[in-house]
Amino acid sequence: DYLRDENLTQKTKDLISSLPSEKGWLVCQMYQFQGRWHTQALLQGILTCQKHFEAKDSDIILVTNPKSGTTWLKALVFALINRHKFPVYSGDHPLLVTNPHSLVPFLEGVYYESPDFDFSQLSSPRLMNTHISHLSLPESVKSSSCKIVYCCRNPKDMFVSLWHFGKKLAPEETADYPIEKAVEAFCQGKFIGGPFWDHVLEYWYASLENPNKVLFVSYEEPKKKTGETIKRIAEFLGCGFVGEEEVRAIVKLCSFESLSSLEVNREGKLPSGMETRAFFRKGEVGGWRDTLTESLAEVIDRTIEEKFQGSGLKF
Ligand code: A3P
Repeated sequence: DYLRDENLTQKTKDLISSLPSEKGWLVCQMYQFQGRWHTQALLQGILTCQKHFEAKDSDIILVTNPKSGTTWLKALVFALINRHKFPVYSGDHPLLVTNPHSLVPFLEGVYYESPDFDFSQLSSPRLMNTHISHLSLPESVKSSSCKIVYCCRNPKDMFVSLWHFGKKLAPEETADYPIEKAVEAFCQGKFIGGPFWDHVLEYWYASLENPNKVLFVSYEEPKKKTGETIKRIAEFLGCGFVGEEEVRAIVKLCSFESLSSLEVNREGKLPSGMETRAFFRKGEVGGWRDTLTESLAEVIDRTIEEKFQGSGLKF
């Protein structure tokens, strides 16, 4: 449970005592490290990851802000790169019986729960995910030829997704938290993993500077044209020709409708104890309208304008 703070090493405790800290939305206390706000637990995971993770050239690392399409991206890329081992049409595909989060390890989460976890035991190409900012990535991820696929989501939809997720995940901490204050925290970047803006911009510029290393996709793009996104990812990863029929089968297998109706994603639990259904809510583009008032949406819009102007990014 990454919101609780146990299993900390003495070194992390010492570091934490020197970091700026704030009471935050979703968590009682969070700490600023390398420009981002973290819980103690996730900070511990990030520090261990920075110290121990050795990237290989063949690695594929999926990066997202939380609630930006992580589950979907994990499913799509898992199905794509394993399509010879696990034919997508087969009735016993792992995605039919296993939640995508159990198929693709979450780097800082695994390092928090099992600091000695041996990532070298994963079969090649290793597929992993992280929410770590570009700035804080382990050195070997930057220096190796491993590939990064970054998925970004419309900030208002991401905020609303996190708002509802928080209510399931941290009901006590969020029970009386006013949405106006949460929007303010979101815009100022003061929430776990925040600021959202810097996270997106760092990877956006990295993808422009080094398009062979970082592929930038948006949650909205595959929603409209999932098949094209799959082909773009396949080309970027150099994983060979994917036929039209195969693309269609991957789209179907990984769609919100298919995944969210599976028993494993309705009634299952992750090893951390988290219920898998927490990852499936509405899966819509523009769904923020049912939660945000016009004036709160405007507050976020103004921040989008301010933060992203001149970057070429549009929402
Ligand atoms: P909503 O809360 O807006 O419905 P993450 O996977 O990064 O935690 O993001 C969760 C969001 O992605 C949720 O958004 C969830 O419903 C949506 N989602 C989960 N699986 C999806 C899929 N297969 N296709 C599209 N969206 C999906």
